[in-house]
Amino acid sequence: MTISTPAGLAAPKPRVPALSVEHIAVHFGGLVAISDLNFDVNEGEVLSLIGPNGAGKTTAFNIITGFLKPTKGTVRYRGTSLNGLKPHEITGLGLVRTFQRTSVFQTISVFQNVMTGLHRRGRSSLWDTLLALPQERQSEKELRDTAHEILKLVGVEHRAADIAGSLSYGDQRLLGVALALAANPTMLLLDEPVSGMNASETAAFMRVLTKLRGMGVTILLVEHDMPMVMGISDRIVVMNYGRLIADGPPAAIQGNPEVIQAYLGVGAKKRARD
Ligand SMILES: Nc1ncnc2c1ncn2[C@@H]1O[C@H](COP(=O)(O)OP(=O)(O)O)[C@@H](O)[C@H]1O
Ligand SMILES: [Mg+2]
Repeated sequence: MTISTPAGLAAPKPRVPALSVEHIAVHFGGLVAISDLNFDVNEGEVLSLIGPNGAGKTTAFNIITGFLKPTKGTVRYRGTSLNGLKPHEITGLGLVRTFQRTSVFQTISVFQNVMTGLHRRGRSSLWDTLLALPQERQSEKELRDTAHEILKLVGVEHRAADIAGSLSYGDQRLLGVALALAANPTMLLLDEPVSGMNASETAAFMRVLTKLRGMGVTILLVEHDMPMVMGISDRIVVMNYGRLIADGPPAAIQGNPEVIQAYLGVGAKKRARD
């Protein structure tokens, strides 16, 4: 990991594929949820996966994180096939999904939550590099320092001593990101992380993602919130009916007639039903 230019300056990033989704198909009985899906997420890139409800985004997310097996195709991370790997083995490769609020231990402190995450994981590289820590196993003191750094990064350090269950909804989601960071990701995957958040919680969450982006963490974001997607993404992949219909930078996606049609089409159907 390198500490790169502050995010938002959008320095051009070299296109080195980190994650490759190759010819993925997913069938649920007779239903084709995904057919022949292909895209890459490049190192250090924020890639958003968008599309109308039922497009297959969560299914794709679950394939990548090992919670579902594809009917066909391969996902590779840094050249290694993820076929047949269990979710925890994929996490061990540095590919970490954020946890929802239910994964936060409600009855222990915010700080202890992150310490638990740090004790569970193996060797660090992200935090070792960031804090210039030696390569031996971290001492308890170093783990505590790391936990505080992570909490500072996600902006809940001031609540470190409080019981996790006492945090607001938005702060619990940020603690979920802290737990994911404790697992030492090189790539972070988020499925609708700001759903249910109010505007200020969403803004705080976006600031954290922007910081992580600036640290060189590769991010795959599945999200409905278009201002957020347009504001933070280097590239956007659009799915509709289980297929990729567009892949490009935000400006190109915003003006893509097929993308506009996919969203308007669903909107029109939904309005007709309501
Ligand atoms: N476990 C499952 N069993 C059967 N059908 C499923 C299952 N999961 C998702 N689907 C179907 O697959 C399609 C894609 O769903 P999903 O990936 O959740 O879409 P999105 O996240 O884009 O809204 C939908 O038609 C959905 O009903
Ligand atoms: Mg979904």
